[in-house]
Parts: sequence; structure tokens; C-alpha cells
Amino acid sequence: MDTTSLADKVAIITGASSGIGAATARLLAAEGCRVMLTARSQAKIEALADELGTAACAFTADLTDPATGPRLAECALGMFGRIDILLANAGIYIPGEFTEGHPDDYATLIDTNVTGVMRCIHAVLPAMRDQHSGDILITSSISGHVDIHWEPVYSASKHAVESLAHTLRRQLLGDNIRVGTVAPGMVANELWGITEEAAIARHVAEHTALRSVDVARAIVFMLTQPPHITIRDLVMVPQRQDL
Ligand SMILES: NC(=O)c1ccc[n+]([C@@H]2O[C@H](COP(=O)([O-])OP(=O)(O)OC[C@H]3O[C@@H](n4cnc5c(N)ncnc54)[C@H](OP(=O)(O)O)[C@@H]3O)[C@@H](O)[C@H]2O)c1
Repeated sequence: MDTTSLADKVAIITGASSGIGAATARLLAAEGCRVMLTARSQAKIEALADELGTAACAFTADLTDPATGPRLAECALGMFGRIDILLANAGIYIPGEFTEGHPDDYATLIDTNVTGVMRCIHAVLPAMRDQHSGDILITSSISGHVDIHWEPVYSASKHAVESLAHTLRRQLLGDNIRVGTVAPGMVANELWGITEEAAIARHVAEHTALRSVDVARAIVFMLTQPPHITIRDLVMVPQRQDL
């Protein structure tokens, strides 16, 4: 398959109800990609699928449910017959003093940011191996490259997916499957409760945050490289972020 064109490809995007996932869904659909949107917020992903038209569908699911990965892959294959791209993007954020948080919340974060990613990748790999092609991208974070002390559990989760991507990429060399991570610094979006365009624009003007669409453009860049190129790590931070 032509890796420089996204037309007619099939992409599964987790965490598509807002932020980076929704922005990427819009860009991929504009390039002619068929997208399966998944998140827990049914109304949001259904509205986005309606906006994107017939090339999109919504699959409401919680990634902490072990059944979600296999059901997602099965549904994409049933609807579209193939899976070209997995953007394992869904994630949650817990900052703060380690001793002040609750271990059950930490377990939920790991279930979402790490185990959920692994389950989705595990579920799509048989189809990608059969096709002898595929792109797996994980939304990591600058927190996966730098040990950020004010968000220890989140930082640990993003280090874990970085390690997963680097090792899995090497296991899949012979399968013509590319594996990479996009690692943004601060993105002004729903993760921080920043939803007003004026507030986002203020951050952008001050160079203190990226927009979700900036990350989506980087993801399109990674996905449209010629077949001999894997962008293994793409780290992008707002110009004034001191990390
Ligand atoms: N914003 C930043 O500054 C920033 C920086 C670096 C990396 N990141 C990473 O970027 C990724 C996307 O986050 P974002 O910035 O776009 O924030 P966001 O708008 O809050 O997006 C998070 C997405 O994950 C989904 N999600 C969370 N828990 C889920 C679960 N259990 N099951 C299914 N879906 C779940 C959410 O949907 P529902 O709530 O509808 O399920 C939502 O669509 C995350 O991995 C995040 O760690 C963000």
C-alpha cells in the first residue's frame, strides 16, 4: 500500500471524543481516510462521526474493559475489511504529590494509558500482519522522555509506552509494520479543562501551549512518510515550555 497517501486507509483512533484524537480524526477524514472513533462519551463521538460523514463510525467503549480491544478490531474489520492505522491516543492525567493520591486512581491510569494501549495494539496486530502493512502510533508525552516530578504516575505511564513502542517496533521489523510515538508538551485542550478558543489562543500567543491540531498535523506527517521511513519518536513542545 502507498504509505504516503491516507486515501481509503482505515484508522482506529482511541480517545477520539476530544482534544488530539478528535483533531486527528478530522485531518485523517479530510485526507480520505475511513476512521473508527472510540471513547466513552457516546454523544461526542457520534456527533463527530456525523460531522465527518459516511467514512466515519463511532464505537463507544471503555478501554479499561479487557473486551474493548478485541471488539474494536473485530468491528473495524467487519465494517471496513482491514486496519491500516491504530492511533492509541486515549489517556488520562493525574498530577500531584504521590502520597496524596489514591493507588486505585493510579491503577485506573495505568489501565487506561498503558494496559489499554497494549490491548488495542495486541488486537489489531493479527490483521496488520496478514496485510503485511500497518502503522501503530501511540500518543505519549514529553513526560515519557523527561521524569516530571509533579506527575510521577503519569510520567511512569508515558515512559512505559515509550519502552513498549521501541521494543515492539523491533519485533515487527519483518512485518512491514511501523511503530512510533508522538510526544507533545502542554497542549491546551480538554485534558487541562481548557476549551474556550480565547484561552487556547492566549496560550498559543504566549508560546506556552500547543493546539490539538498541531499534534494532529505531526501525526499526519508521521503517517505519510515513504515506506522506508519510520518516525520512531516525535517530540514537540511549545517554544516556552521549560522541559
Ligand atoms: N493535553 C496535553 O497537554 C497532553 C500532552 C501530552 C500528551 N497528551 C496525551 O494525549 C492523549 C490525548 O489527550 P488529549 O490531550 O487529547 O486530552 P483529552 O481531550 O482529555 O482526550 C483524552 C481522550 O481519552 C479518552 N479516554 C480517557 N479515558 C478513557 C477510557 N477509559 N476509555 C476510552 N477512552 C478514554 C477520552 O474520552 P472519554 O472521556 O469520552 O472516554 C478522550 O477522548 C493522552 O494520551 C494524553 O496523555 C496530552
